[in-house]
Amino acid sequence: YPLLAHNTFGFAVHAQCAAWLTDEAALPAMRDDARLAGLPRLLIGGGSNLVLTRDFPGVVLLNGLQGRRRVGEDADAWFVEAAAGENWHEFVAYTLDEDMPGLENLALIPGTVGAAPVQNIGAYGVEVANCLHSVRVFDVLDGSWRTLGRDDCAFGYRDSVFKRGGRDRWIITSVVFRLPKRWQARTGYGDIAARLAALGRAPRARDVFDAVCAIRRAKLPDWRETGNAGSFFKNPLVDAARHAALVASEPGLVAYPQPDGGAKLAAGWLIERCGFKGVTRGHAGVHDAQALVLVNRGGASGSEVVALAREIVEAVMTRFGVTLEIEPLVV
Ligand code: EPU
Repeated sequence: YPLLAHNTFGFAVHAQCAAWLTDEAALPAMRDDARLAGLPRLLIGGGSNLVLTRDFPGVVLLNGLQGRRRVGEDADAWFVEAAAGENWHEFVAYTLDEDMPGLENLALIPGTVGAAPVQNIGAYGVEVANCLHSVRVFDVLDGSWRTLGRDDCAFGYRDSVFKRGGRDRWIITSVVFRLPKRWQARTGYGDIAARLAALGRAPRARDVFDAVCAIRRAKLPDWRETGNAGSFFKNPLVDAARHAALVASEPGLVAYPQPDGGAKLAAGWLIERCGFKGVTRGHAGVHDAQALVLVNRGGASGSEVVALAREIVEAVMTRFGVTLEIEPLVV
């Protein structure tokens, strides 16, 4: 089964077979299906955080679960549910259309609703963990259904329980979001505030949404034109001592202070300083407007991209003594 259309890097690899999940009620039967028993399994939503380095010798489950609706409210918040296969950006737009703001900073992130909690998607000062209420999962080990609350998800920076032990165990089928009725624009990141100041009035959620979309369009390549998986590395966390040493030797260092006294470094800055911005290696490359994004320049393989990533990791380690961690799932 060709996976070209199911990964935003645009790698032309195949799976042994694939199954479309369009009704969650089919999951127990799928779990018990003798044809699938013993086969490696890979669940793909939008395929936007995935590096496929070769053909997949197993079954790919394509998440086509659809549906979104307001499921309730209390004095403080709206509760809205979406099926895991819903497109994330369209879901964000829907919540704004329905006058339930709160997700606008996360506009234009590629992928599905079900993938959002896995890597705890985040952008422009907001993480999905901030607005998530619960996640419904099917447990493939024992065939049961469970609802995990926000604390059960163990969210961290680009991290959750679903990236660790939960990856092979749980299939996310829907997510409930809690969107506070008292809305506040979150404009502290980058140049969002400056863009909104030009409006000359108090910004509405739609304005923040538009500003985020404009910034993303300027910096990040559209995967439909240039294959990519967003940030290829996490922004690394360093302790206070390493941070102080780096500041002394690298005056332009871009770093965000952390509550523990350490700092989160802008990996894009480190990579750019090592001279990689805009480079090409074979069919793979580094985006010329954002060095944290590796791209498929046409016909690249996942292995070429991973080889370029290794070269970058080594150079950043040699120059700064900092370890970069790959963010997307490499299969
Ligand atoms: N920078 C450079 N050169 C570069 C890229 C960045 O010097 O080539 C420096 C600049 O000073 C810039 C700073 O790094 O101001 C931060 O860059 P940017 O605002 O583009 O954010 P980022 O830290 O590179 C993170 C997320 C993005 C998210 C943005 C905005 C991670 C791994 N990435 O990137 O998420 O959109 O912040 O919040 O945390 C993704 O995960 O796929 C993703 C795109």
